[in-house]
Amino acid sequence: MILNGKRLLITGVVNDDSIAYATARRAQELGAELVLSAFPRDLANALEAARTLPVEPPIIAADLSSEADAAALCYSVKELWGELDGALHAIAFAPRSALSGEFIEAPPGDLDIAFQTSAVSYASLARIIRDLSPGPGSSLVGLDFDAAGAWPVYNWMGVCKAALESVNRYVARDLGRDGIRANLIAAGPIHTRAASGIPDFELLLEAWEGRSPLEWDPGDSYPVADAACFLFSDLSRAITGEILHVDGGYHAMAGALREPVRSAAAGDK
Ligand SMILES: NC(=O)c1ccc[n+]([C@@H]2O[C@H](COP(=O)([O-])OP(=O)(O)OC[C@H]3O[C@@H](n4cnc5c(N)ncnc54)[C@H](O)[C@@H]3O)[C@@H](O)[C@H]2O)c1
Repeated sequence: MILNGKRLLITGVVNDDSIAYATARRAQELGAELVLSAFPRDLANALEAARTLPVEPPIIAADLSSEADAAALCYSVKELWGELDGALHAIAFAPRSALSGEFIEAPPGDLDIAFQTSAVSYASLARIIRDLSPGPGSSLVGLDFDAAGAWPVYNWMGVCKAALESVNRYVARDLGRDGIRANLIAAGPIHTRAASGIPDFELLLEAWEGRSPLEWDPGDSYPVADAACFLFSDLSRAITGEILHVDGGYHAMAGALREPVRSAAAGDK
């Protein structure tokens, strides 16, 4: 029960496919007490998903691209518990124009929305943790998609993830003074609602089939959830500013190891 006594704020649950949902379930199984926050438009779905967790947690509606909502969320969590030991950032959104089409033609206003929601909101959550942390040992965890290079798809969301990686390093720098950790998990591709909004997402799945040394199941977000629980726990007490890859080892390979099953089948025709 590595999370016994930990009070965690979990953002980003919209249904039981959400990586945040798997993390919430695992965290409860490992002893944590939870409060969820949900994007107001997704609140009804989040409530439905929350009812299927081992213990139904309270849910607070918050649009984390809004400073006012972030401040209200901080106030609500303070009213509920007074203190907070950890938070999961599982939030991303980009208008379609930022996810596909001519990269350099994406409207700047759409990029602002993507950047604010997917990268700047991590700093908002960091402020909540800083303000409510009971002392050294609190932990902020975010979800990344490896931004070391350009993907064949993903466009400006890749840029937002590169920004998120940088934001994480600065948050780790500043919160480290208070003994608070900040880390990201770079997950492999997983079937979620957010993923279904990425045009040509199947190209990423094919890439994983060809290159990941470990078998990668895009229907299973629990390996990511388990890593998040490790990062919330005291077992990770000396880790901060890190990007932990939970991707079957994809990132460590220099190229494809085998022909992807789907591509091979297509080539047979
Ligand atoms: N699915 C993947 O393949 C994959 C891989 C690596 C990283 N990630 C990351 O995991 C995180 C969670 O995504 P997911 O794949 O579980 O999808 P998901 O659709 O289940 O979760 C995305 C969440 O973001 C929330 N959200 C969007 N805009 C918001 C806002 N302004 N304020 C508050 N919440 C907002 C949505 O309500 C939703 O709950 C994202 O950061 C995503 O980029 C996903």
